[in-house]
Amino acid sequence: MNGVKISAVGHYAPAAILTNEDLEKTLDTSDEWITTRTGMKRRHIAAENEATSDLCIAAARDALRNGKIAPSDIDCYIVATSTPDYAFPATACIVAAQLDAVGKPAFDMEIACSGFIYGLTLASSLIRAGVYSRVMLIGAESLSKIVDRSDRSTAILFGDGAGAVVLEAAAENSFLSSELGADGRRPETLCLLGGGSRRRLTAESLKAGEQYLRMEGREIFKFAVTKMIEATGIALHRANLQKSDVNWLIPHQANKRIIDAAAKYLEMPEERVIVNIEEYGNTSAASIPIALSEALTAGKIKPGDIIVFVGFGGGLSWGAVTWKWA
Ligand code: ACO
Repeated sequence: MNGVKISAVGHYAPAAILTNEDLEKTLDTSDEWITTRTGMKRRHIAAENEATSDLCIAAARDALRNGKIAPSDIDCYIVATSTPDYAFPATACIVAAQLDAVGKPAFDMEIACSGFIYGLTLASSLIRAGVYSRVMLIGAESLSKIVDRSDRSTAILFGDGAGAVVLEAAAENSFLSSELGADGRRPETLCLLGGGSRRRLTAESLKAGEQYLRMEGREIFKFAVTKMIEATGIALHRANLQKSDVNWLIPHQANKRIIDAAAKYLEMPEERVIVNIEEYGNTSAASIPIALSEALTAGKIKPGDIIVFVGFGGGLSWGAVTWKWA
């Protein structure tokens, strides 16, 4: 067996909801502006005592339950996140321990919103190379913890959540192709400046707001549309697929207008594009697996369907994976 398939999927979103109307009360913004510019209506927000590992564990349990898999049957745990519990240890170690899988390898991947796409490529490769038989890949974020609630240009965009997939060895191969890329020439385009080894958090940097996410929205918008189209085109070509072969486009949920622009170019009719941005906002590495989980629950995806997963984000980074659902 040198194929791989996704055998179980689950997700979790915190209970508390922040609506556009809530945001109207604290910021100079409006439901109309947010809806027309982004497509967002609500976001789920983690409780003060809820960390990214807690979201991961809930999503992982959902996937394990759906797949009737025991935590000890997973050979390796990977968490894609840019909002880990701590700079170290890796959030995945905490997740595995809480799932009673102490001793299993566990590590984090940090490539912002592209995390799930990179993770899918890596986990599939580990399985296809015969290193592991079952890998749990979780995309999870608590972005509300790094958003400046007083900055209307970012506070409206981000939400919290987690999506988990179990990948396992299979006779037939679902992973058809991947195209990944990164351009780190201007990290400040989308970044959390403070708290790393470049700029430590001091009273001064805290005063300057370096503990909060910053983003050059317009720049990212253009980059996102271009790279989603490019990466999808390359991934389809590598898999010897035409645009018309694609049953489902599951894009990173950063802005409905970005998704629409990319989908239009890729000639994907609206009904074949999975969009849940209205409910969750941008949950970065979690957005694609949450969208996949919801699409499966809704009975949309059938065996044999061709899916394109495509994302972009901090780095800057991007990626697309073509997948045949088993
Ligand atoms: N409410 C009302 N007005 C606002 C708001 C708001 N929440 N935010 C900005 N504005 C104003 C601006 O101040 C500006 O006013 P001005 O014209 O008087 O200067 C005007 O609206 C237009 O601002 P733009 O930034 O040009 O608005 P745009 O249409 O580009 O939409 C947005 C902004 C939604 C941020 C868009 O650029 C976008 O989605 N960019 C991509 C973001 C993204 O994908 N980020 C990925 C992050 S993923 C990760 O890795 C964490």
